[in-house]
Amino acid sequence: MRNVTIMTTVSVDEQAISEAKELRDQFQRFLREYEFGMREVETKISILRDEFTHNHAYNPIEHVKSRIKSPDSIVEKVARKGIEPDFDTIRAEVTDIAGVRVTCSFVADVYRLFDLLTQQDDVTVRVVKDYIADPKPNGYKSLHTIIEVPVFLSTGPIAVPVEVQFRTIAMDFWASLEHKIHYKFQGQIPGHLVDSLTDAADAASELDLRMERLHREAHGVRPRELAPPRVIAV
Ligand code: GTP
Ligand code: MG
Repeated sequence: MRNVTIMTTVSVDEQAISEAKELRDQFQRFLREYEFGMREVETKISILRDEFTHNHAYNPIEHVKSRIKSPDSIVEKVARKGIEPDFDTIRAEVTDIAGVRVTCSFVADVYRLFDLLTQQDDVTVRVVKDYIADPKPNGYKSLHTIIEVPVFLSTGPIAVPVEVQFRTIAMDFWASLEHKIHYKFQGQIPGHLVDSLTDAADAASELDLRMERLHREAHGVRPRELAPPRVIAV
């Protein structure tokens, strides 16, 4: 067999390349706003933790995890929601591009942290979903909020939405297992596993109650009255 080398000339469209570069730069600028908003919230949480630890000799936060939604996930959500793929529409419709998850020791700490963050003067609360008072049918529990925080750029201030999820260690343990199972079965979880997950969610809630009771007994604090559910606000 003869080796044949085929030479092709690719015509480079300078215009298309510069447009693609411009779009890439715009997208990076767009994501950076969320990165800054996320950092503002991280700082607020970290100040609350340090101040609380100093004043009460007790740290109510187990860990904090933050993430910026990947470009692929943003594109996938835009397609799923059927919205226009322009920056203004995405800004208005996709409110979980910046996400911060705060894992607390006890349910009381979840509500305390939520109140301390959302009552700050420069924080605007856009949405609250209390899945602790009103768990999802599968047993998912967490307290979610979408807040807006100001970010001061060289061009002036902007308000950046950040999704903050507050939960206990037990809720986090359950949610991460459920997430893995959900992913493995691509959302079609077999019935017996759904039942086991719901049972496990009940066990996690029971553990939360017991641990908090134990903690309160050990510290001589009276059992907490159940916190009122947070209303859903838009
Ligand atoms: P998304 O479009 O998925 O962001 O949902 P949503 O806009 O209806 O908001 P919701 O407050 O219900 O959920 C937001 C986030 O909470 C999700 O992206 C997950 O991180 C988490 N979450 C909600 N429901 C579940 C659940 O059943 N299991 C797990 N593991 N996580 C959940
Ligand atoms: Mg989401």
